[in-house]
Amino acid sequence: MALFSGAASARIIPSVSLSSSSRAFFSLSSSSSSLECLRSSPRISHLFLNQRRAEVRVSSGGYGTVSAPKSFASDPDQLKSAREDIKELLRSKFCHPILIRLGWHDAGTYNKNIEEWPQRGGANGSLRFEVELKHAANAGLVNALKLLQPIKDKYSGVTYADLFQLAGATAVEEAGGPKLPMKYGRVDVSEPEQCPEEGRLPDAGPPSPADHLRQVFYRMGLNDKEIVALSGAHTLGRSRPDRSGWGKPETKYTKDGPGAPGGQSWTAQWLKFDNSYFKDIKEKKDEDLLVLPTDAALFEDPSFRVYAEKYAEDQEAFFKDYAEAHAKLSNLGAKFDPPEGIVIGDSPNAGAEKFVAAKYSSGKRELSDAMKQKIRAEYEAIGGSPDKPLQSNYFLNIIIIIAVLAFLTSLLGN
Ligand code: HEM
Repeated sequence: MALFSGAASARIIPSVSLSSSSRAFFSLSSSSSSLECLRSSPRISHLFLNQRRAEVRVSSGGYGTVSAPKSFASDPDQLKSAREDIKELLRSKFCHPILIRLGWHDAGTYNKNIEEWPQRGGANGSLRFEVELKHAANAGLVNALKLLQPIKDKYSGVTYADLFQLAGATAVEEAGGPKLPMKYGRVDVSEPEQCPEEGRLPDAGPPSPADHLRQVFYRMGLNDKEIVALSGAHTLGRSRPDRSGWGKPETKYTKDGPGAPGGQSWTAQWLKFDNSYFKDIKEKKDEDLLVLPTDAALFEDPSFRVYAEKYAEDQEAFFKDYAEAHAKLSNLGAKFDPPEGIVIGDSPNAGAEKFVAAKYSSGKRELSDAMKQKIRAEYEAIGGSPDKPLQSNYFLNIIIIIAVLAFLTSLLGN
């Protein structure tokens, strides 16, 4: 792992402060009792924390002196390059939804009642291990890991925990969602034994969906507003019966992809991040769109409904609350190195024309030129034009006239 690599990094601890505090410890180390006494002094106890960090660096990195520079959990330059590679991946695979789900399922195991890392779960990269990928709630996420692995292999200075969150955040933004106030520097767990036990993620069809959502998300330290806002991520993606057991095998919106065809989406334009998830659940107008019991609960429970109604009306309010909640979710349980995290800022080409995943959403695609010509020919054959559509009752009028004429003829005949 790259945690203690000597690779160049823009975020190096100033060696002066480290070495000077460390030298002080070495001169003091002859007297363990005075050390203990100093350790407990609130004014300087933080220096001992630094000492521990320096000692760890020496033993793990094999550097000759405690003042040797150290990279943090992830390297900022590599994070930025990885983000560009993720954008390329999104352009070619349309995998925005599954990458978001991967990041959420790594973070969503967090238990605020457990203090120790990594037992508390959360965004620590544990979802890369087979034992956790095999949890029922994670069915299909191995595909997301496979997509990201080449990027991980290319950037040894990016932890899995960061890569999962970077991928999810980039996917939201690239699908037209809000800019997320993310930070990086998450430390990875190192072995499968550090994975959380199964059962920490929500179930889509529990006996009492609203109570269940509260039980699971309150355990993560999230509130009703955050539950509703985060559920809005279902504006993207599909559910597949062969993975979660929920949804139809295919619908008019998913049968042609993009990406692997099939599944049932919550919205018609399921690669476009907007507030249509809330609008569509509220209107319940299309049998081809999915509403899980936990989605329906957002409009049934009085406290959830306040937010769900608001987001259905006001996309800006949804984007603001979603951005805050997503960033909070992505930090749950994470151990940051450096402790304050690393902010990588905007892409250099942020101003350039954005890839809009929405353009590729099924069910709303532009007609091909050949199809337009075919439609025009059909219209012209019956004397109309696609630019000036026929009156809807055109044929009905003709039939009525014929019927009236036939009736009159028969009267005259009598
Ligand atoms: C509120 C409780 C939640 C439940 C019960 C739930 C349940 C589900 C289920 C059953 C699927 C279908 C998986 C499949 O068959 O492949 C799914 C997909 C998805 N979920 Fe959730 N989810 C919840 C919350 C969230 C949150 C908080 C996020 C993100 C912030 C999220 C993001 C997604 C995305 C993007 C997909 C689509 C994945 C794809 O198309 O491959 N979900 N969810």
